[in-house]
Amino acid sequence: MNNPENPQPLAKDAAWPEGLVIRARRPSDAEGIVTLHNMPGYRYGTLRTPHHTPDEIRKGIEIQPANMTGLIALLDGKIVGDAGLTRLANRRVHVGSIGMGVHDAYVGKGIGKALIGEVLALADNWFNLRRIELTVYTDNEPAIRLYERHGFVTEGRMKEFAFRDGSYVDAYSMARLRG
Ligand SMILES: CC(C)(COP(=O)(O)OP(=O)(O)OC[C@H]1O[C@@H](n2cnc3c(N)ncnc32)[C@H](O)[C@@H]1OP(=O)(O)O)[C@@H](O)C(=O)NCCC(=O)NCCS
Repeated sequence: MNNPENPQPLAKDAAWPEGLVIRARRPSDAEGIVTLHNMPGYRYGTLRTPHHTPDEIRKGIEIQPANMTGLIALLDGKIVGDAGLTRLANRRVHVGSIGMGVHDAYVGKGIGKALIGEVLALADNWFNLRRIELTVYTDNEPAIRLYERHGFVTEGRMKEFAFRDGSYVDAYSMARLRG
């Protein structure tokens, strides 16, 4: 029987780190998520700004649109990563957009791999999406490697995509097309 507090991986070949749980985020997760989003490494790789509050995270979860799936990864009840899949509409109904991040103290342990595997299995097998898009800073080598290993290719470079710690940073536009 599938325990809702500890769902089984959607991908049949998934090999998650021992004890990892991936489930939908809830308003009561706001404190753990804000700790994650305020970490320097997480912020450096994403579009997060300093000094997020639990309240803004909780409100964001409460008004989450129906076309978005927000997942968190937990180890021993601690939030160690998150990922989101947003499904587009109308003539782009076959497209999804993803974003993700892992707790600074837990990178390199297979959590990012588990999260992207879960999101891609959701996109492929439950939402029947054909194209998954993301953006990644051009200097974020661990993320680019993770995405390339999961079938993403670079489609273009966006100059001065975002402002980060005092300077502009370029980003790659990457996508994975399902045949
Ligand atoms: C980019 C990011 C998501 C990668 O996640 P991660 O959890 O560190 O990645 P993983 O641990 O799954 O994979 C990294 C390595 O661990 C290895 N690994 C996989 N499973 C493992 C396991 N069970 N145990 C130990 N190592 C494992 C992988 O093979 C990989 O090896 P590599 O370095 O040779 O490629 C993470 O570094 C991060 O969140 N950074 C900050 C925020 C960010 O940049 N987000 C992305 C925005 S585009």
